[in-house]
Amino acid sequence: MSSSPEQQPFPPEEVISRALQLRDELNRANYQYYVLQQPELTDQEYDALFQELKAIEEQYPDLQTSDSPTQRVGAAPAPEFAEVVHSMPMLSLSNVFSEDQLRGWYRRILEYLETDNVDLLCELKIDGLAIALTYQDATLIRAATRGDGFRGEDVTANIRTIKSVPLRLNGDDVPPTVEMRGEVFFPISAFERFNEERQAQGLPTYVNPRNSASGALRQLDSRETARRPLDIFFYSIAQANGLSLETQWESLQAISRWGGKVNPWTRRVASLEEAIEAFEDAQRIRGELDYGIDGMVIKVDSLALQQRLGNVGREPRWATAYKFPAEQARTRLVRIGINVGRTGSLNPYAELEPVMVGGVTVRRATLHNEDHMREKDIREGDLVIVQRAGDVIPQVVGPAPDNERGPDSAQYQLPDTCPVCGEPTTRVEEEAVVRCVNAACPAQFERLLEHFASRSAMDIEGLGERLAQDLARNGLVKDIADVFSLRERRDELLALERMGEKKTDNLLAAIDNARQRPLSRMLFGLGIINVGSEVADWLARRFRTLEGLESATEEDLLEVEGVGPVIAKNVAAWMHNPRNRDLLDRLRAAGVDPVDDSPEPPSEHVVRGKTIVVTGRLESMSRSEANARIKTLGGKASGSVSKKTDFVVAGKEAGSKLDDARRLGVTVLDEDQFVALLDNIPPHTSNDGNSDT
Ligand code: IVH
Repeated sequence: MSSSPEQQPFPPEEVISRALQLRDELNRANYQYYVLQQPELTDQEYDALFQELKAIEEQYPDLQTSDSPTQRVGAAPAPEFAEVVHSMPMLSLSNVFSEDQLRGWYRRILEYLETDNVDLLCELKIDGLAIALTYQDATLIRAATRGDGFRGEDVTANIRTIKSVPLRLNGDDVPPTVEMRGEVFFPISAFERFNEERQAQGLPTYVNPRNSASGALRQLDSRETARRPLDIFFYSIAQANGLSLETQWESLQAISRWGGKVNPWTRRVASLEEAIEAFEDAQRIRGELDYGIDGMVIKVDSLALQQRLGNVGREPRWATAYKFPAEQARTRLVRIGINVGRTGSLNPYAELEPVMVGGVTVRRATLHNEDHMREKDIREGDLVIVQRAGDVIPQVVGPAPDNERGPDSAQYQLPDTCPVCGEPTTRVEEEAVVRCVNAACPAQFERLLEHFASRSAMDIEGLGERLAQDLARNGLVKDIADVFSLRERRDELLALERMGEKKTDNLLAAIDNARQRPLSRMLFGLGIINVGSEVADWLARRFRTLEGLESATEEDLLEVEGVGPVIAKNVAAWMHNPRNRDLLDRLRAAGVDPVDDSPEPPSEHVVRGKTIVVTGRLESMSRSEANARIKTLGGKASGSVSKKTDFVVAGKEAGSKLDDARRLGVTVLDEDQFVALLDNIPPHTSNDGNSDT
């Protein structure tokens, strides 16, 4: 410890207790002001106490604690954010856009649980950034961004500057370790003031509150974050040993009791009809709020039922986001351009006179395809309606009702040659898409490269549309494996336009980092037709390595949840193609050999590798639930009984499948035996010889 001569190393007793008292009073005042919005101290009173504490801490640095209100002003810049592995993945939400879709979601839940009704909790969907805060012994020790859901960035110093974030939790029932999750946002009014100030200083302005909140959290200098009045709403407890909570509602109450800010609008409802009413209310109050919301989140209230419902891929079954309808605006379509996609499709887009739609300036919007343009008769020069919903790409809906055309107006024709490589295009019958079928067309590869490096794939920061183009056109990257040998071509990279020393080195570092990405992201990044991030997740989970997938047959693939015949065919074809195999070999040679990072199904489990048919009605779980559990344990849940079936689980009123089992001599389990089996206890059947395990 460095203590200068005038500092007294041992603070007197009364100073210690005064510091303690000041800290408590200031934290309390903060809570009253920023969480309850009912201040009890005047600004001057607060300031006097703050200065007193600051003076004490300066004289006795040992008295300074991480939960001191003086720590909210930010600290010296950090070189970079440390990585944080989440205690449990931070999931995302499925979306529904209509009452019908919402009813579908609810119906599936009821079917899964085999029940008639569940209590629901309706929360506003705050349009900000997800954050996970860990408290140890009631003190904030860590804050992490969502990142890819598994790993995020440590932004503790930045989060401390948010006045409504408790640095210390209050109450007797705060568990020794507790993780609370919530949404950080930039209040709209503060955002507008902030942007005005930036404009006045000649600094670039932010497009919307969400982007500026994100910018604020990503400041390496937390003193910068402190200058932005961010706020937070907590929405869940992710981890709390020893706490017996039964519902989501109780979780929110606990957070609130401990001093965390939860959204006051939250509605607990006993039927779907009430949830729909709540949604209408949310739409009504939207305009009055000082923060952006993009819908309502509906959650099954019971935590036990949430547990039973579990997740599908990265989304929980027990919750969904009911999004507000798209926002629209009217503007001029200046020009129609063509973008050649990853699969060679010619995608028309509109260049627009810039227009604000739902808080974002839109300059470009998709026109989908030729059929859409024909059907809606969209032409260059038209006044058009543009719409934007949530994160989706803005689209041109059609000409505005008051659109008028001059004599030059003409229907747009997609070119019969590719605007990038000049080869003739083709239109596959039955498909709305015109494609460039030249496999060597640079545009396709550029798009693939961009996709491979994108956030939800390999997440190589710095490798976006522009650089992908430059790398491909300058011959630095001819296939995606080349990305990983760019370090050897640093000089050539430096010679590219817009690539300074720093940018180049950041890029190379980002590429090195990308070698660690899990298999699912790599699979998604390869751009295999129909393999979205969810299917990639399932495949990774089942096959665990690239070799595993390479040796999988179409039949093996078909057994994976979420994989139908079309996907199975595409994946198998891709994996068996010699050029792709060569690519994978080259990736491996470059040190990229991803593995699945999700917890492995228990290798020793009695269910593993077994084919099980569940029939009849079970008491403790539904059939879908039983099947899901069989799959997570590495077994195969089948719908029909054959000689290859290992077990038939017979619930109440089991019918013909039970007869089949008896006829074929398949071991039949009752519900208790099945539950035991799931607990890894092999069945004790009296006289079937116990042939296996
Ligand atoms: S629950 C598994 N509740 O929406 C549950 N999320 O699209 C996931 N969000 O990443 C979170 N308001 O950042 C939940 N009341 C709310 C929310 C909310 C906003 C965000 C959150 C999440 C994203 C999912």
